[in-house]
Amino acid sequence: MPEITDLLRQEHDEALTLADRLCREEEDAKARREIFHQLKDALTLHSRAEEAAVYEALKGCKDDDEAVKMGHEGYVEHSLVDYLFEKLTRSSATTSPSWSAHAMVLKELLEHHVEEEQGEAFDLLEKHFDAAAREKMAQAFLVAKDSAASSAKSSRSAA
Ligand SMILES: [Fe+2]
Ligand SMILES: [Fe+2]
Repeated sequence: MPEITDLLRQEHDEALTLADRLCREEEDAKARREIFHQLKDALTLHSRAEEAAVYEALKGCKDDDEAVKMGHEGYVEHSLVDYLFEKLTRSSATTSPSWSAHAMVLKELLEHHVEEEQGEAFDLLEKHFDAAAREKMAQAFLVAKDSAASSAKSSRSAA
């Protein structure tokens, strides 16, 4: 079983690659929409699972203000990502300058967010959780991802 930082690193790489492709795809509206949905679906599950398995654990490190702060900050940055996903979903003009601008800000936000996670947050995880605990956290992350996927599915079929 990989530990949590390995899992997250792999998913971050995939998300950053997709965000980069999203910004470069300026001509073909259909291709851009497909990349967008791929990124949005994957990253939304990643965020919800990360909140449940990682940010809650950091917030639980009550004797370390930095860890608690990092947990809270993570939620705030995810909510900004969610907001941009919503805005981009609502507009069908995927090749318009406005859509492109939102996509670019999304990419920059993601780059900043991933840098902070893989820097500060990973250091904190290594400081407060041993390898066995980080493996357990990876399992919790995968379980949370599955449950986020099923609730996304059921809310889609209810719509
Ligand atoms: Fe992440
Ligand atoms: Fe995150």
